[in-house]
Amino acid sequence: MALSPQFLDELKHRFTLSDVVGRKVKLIRRGREHTGLCPFHNEKTPSFTVNDQKGFYHCFGCGQHGGVIDFVMNTEGLTFPETVEQLASQVGMEVPKPSREAVEREKTRASLSEVMEAVTSWYEAQLYGQIGKGAFGYIKGRGLSDATLKRFQLGYAPNSRTALKDAMRARGIPEDQLIETGMLIKPDDGRDSYDRFRDRLMFPISDRQGRVIAFGGRALSKDAKAKYLNSPETVLFHKGATLYNWANARSASYDSGQVMVVEGYMDVIALAQAGIDYSVAPLGTALTEEQIAHLWQMADEPILSFDGDNAGRRAAMRAMERALPMLRPGKSLRFVFMPDGDDPDTLVQREGRGAIERKIDEAEPLVNMLWRELNEGVVVDTPERRAGFEKKVFVRLAEIQDESVKKLYQSEFRNRIWEQFKPQRKTGGFQSSGYGRSKFNRAPASTGLLSKTALGRTLGQAAVTDRLQQLLVLSILNHPQILIRYEEAFAALDLTVSALENIRSSILEYVVHSSTLEAEGLKHYLTENNLGHECEKLLSDKSLKDDWFAWSDAALGDALTGFEHTLKRFHHITDCWAAYKQAESEYAADMTEDNHARFVAAQQAYRELEDKEADKDGYRLESGRLSYN
Ligand code: UTP
Ligand code: MN
Repeated sequence: MALSPQFLDELKHRFTLSDVVGRKVKLIRRGREHTGLCPFHNEKTPSFTVNDQKGFYHCFGCGQHGGVIDFVMNTEGLTFPETVEQLASQVGMEVPKPSREAVEREKTRASLSEVMEAVTSWYEAQLYGQIGKGAFGYIKGRGLSDATLKRFQLGYAPNSRTALKDAMRARGIPEDQLIETGMLIKPDDGRDSYDRFRDRLMFPISDRQGRVIAFGGRALSKDAKAKYLNSPETVLFHKGATLYNWANARSASYDSGQVMVVEGYMDVIALAQAGIDYSVAPLGTALTEEQIAHLWQMADEPILSFDGDNAGRRAAMRAMERALPMLRPGKSLRFVFMPDGDDPDTLVQREGRGAIERKIDEAEPLVNMLWRELNEGVVVDTPERRAGFEKKVFVRLAEIQDESVKKLYQSEFRNRIWEQFKPQRKTGGFQSSGYGRSKFNRAPASTGLLSKTALGRTLGQAAVTDRLQQLLVLSILNHPQILIRYEEAFAALDLTVSALENIRSSILEYVVHSSTLEAEGLKHYLTENNLGHECEKLLSDKSLKDDWFAWSDAALGDALTGFEHTLKRFHHITDCWAAYKQAESEYAADMTEDNHARFVAAQQAYRELEDKEADKDGYRLESGRLSYN
């Protein structure tokens, strides 16, 4: 149903949003806005805001956002046309009738749909009759229950050139409609039409509303040319725009927030039988852009599952490449690989639903797949090769259309390249270095304050930067000469950990008094100023040891580079946080669509940065270890 924007606008303006929302949510008026408890997530303090002037609502807790049509659609579980119909009738507006061609198209579609329905039930009847005995035995042998067979309307196409044609003729269904739906093949040379599917187990393929539009047929005989034969493209069926099990998965995805893409029909069915209803499959082709767009309407991060072999890996790379230009804030893909020799069907039948859910939990984010692809087999041992590699990486990232996502990918990959190619720590480590062996280094392992990054990502901005703050101060403790270049930047750092703040002020005092900028002298000075204990904690924090540059045995040049790099990361996060808070208050002050878009982008940018930093702190999932072959 294509309705004009004018009509929809008119319809929206007939409603005061807070009245409509007020039927479901207790709202309190606050100036120009209303607030209440969000109906889309569980909360105790109201973060749900309704702005009548702009005609939309927004939840600052869960991000739900929309106008009157969205609200009714989402709270009453109606489709878009149903919602429009209902709202229009409430205010006595008539929904404009579609054009004559649209009516004609809809009529053709409806009658072809009826043909498909008749075909589906006839195939189904065959499966349970004498003629389908072999097929029935086969599919039962693959572990499907009667209920599952019925639910997916599995059927059987007999081994005959005209069985379907004859049966449909007896029901008065015209031959040309059977040809148009692809059920009969009409040879070009004028010979009689005949059944397309013969001696195959039939899987009806439905559209998004659950109406059968095509079939996949699995060969039962070993001599068949293709294992699976699918309906051709027809008025009803565009295989690149459809997903197997779409209609069922749509509601399951809505409940679970997940959608999983598997390769085969049998996989979808076996998963559903095991209680995982949110899986879909493409129709025998690689995933198309259109299918990816549909998946993103079902979940933010669809999980794509592939076989663990080389072919599966190539297919995963293709899907990643297709999605890359399309990434946008919040929307990505994740990847899982089946154990060798398994597909989701065999895995779930052998090990149950939990095995699949564990796979989903460990799914690999798209960013890792891309990194692996770019990085594979790359040897970067000279500046020229490294520059070449960086160029290749940034050319690839330029494919990402969304600016905010692209920027974050660029900075992520810059970091990864740096991590990968930073000079290796000298053998022996810092402990064996004579210079570093001050009394500070021999202190017991740290407790408390300075290792609080391990508490995790939920602490928000402060927690994410704690570790960076520690590293910055630690580098200066071990290499005060860095201050020759960065005294001002160090003095201006927005430190939020009070122990670090204290150390920093004393360091700056020392710089004023000392002419040498020398580590042992600095440490003495700090001890004399009662900061010995705080310094010891920092100098014995094992969690910082991987950042070799901050320690005393790093060469000054490396320490400087590491410090600069950390400073950049720290500024990047604090800037990003400030931008996010700024966008939030601008949006709160003036709820326009533009401000909303800016706010969402800024929030997303910050969250992704936060995730990335949390990863660096050791939250990287097991999936980082995933390897092929
Ligand atoms: P698979 O060969 O993995 O099939 O193809 P499957 O679903 O595991 O089937 P079983 O378990 O052997 O019965 C995956 C999908 O690729 C498409 C079909 O959509 C199939 O479900 N395909 C496969 C074809 O379109 N044609 C073929 O010849 C083979
Ligand atoms: Mn299979």
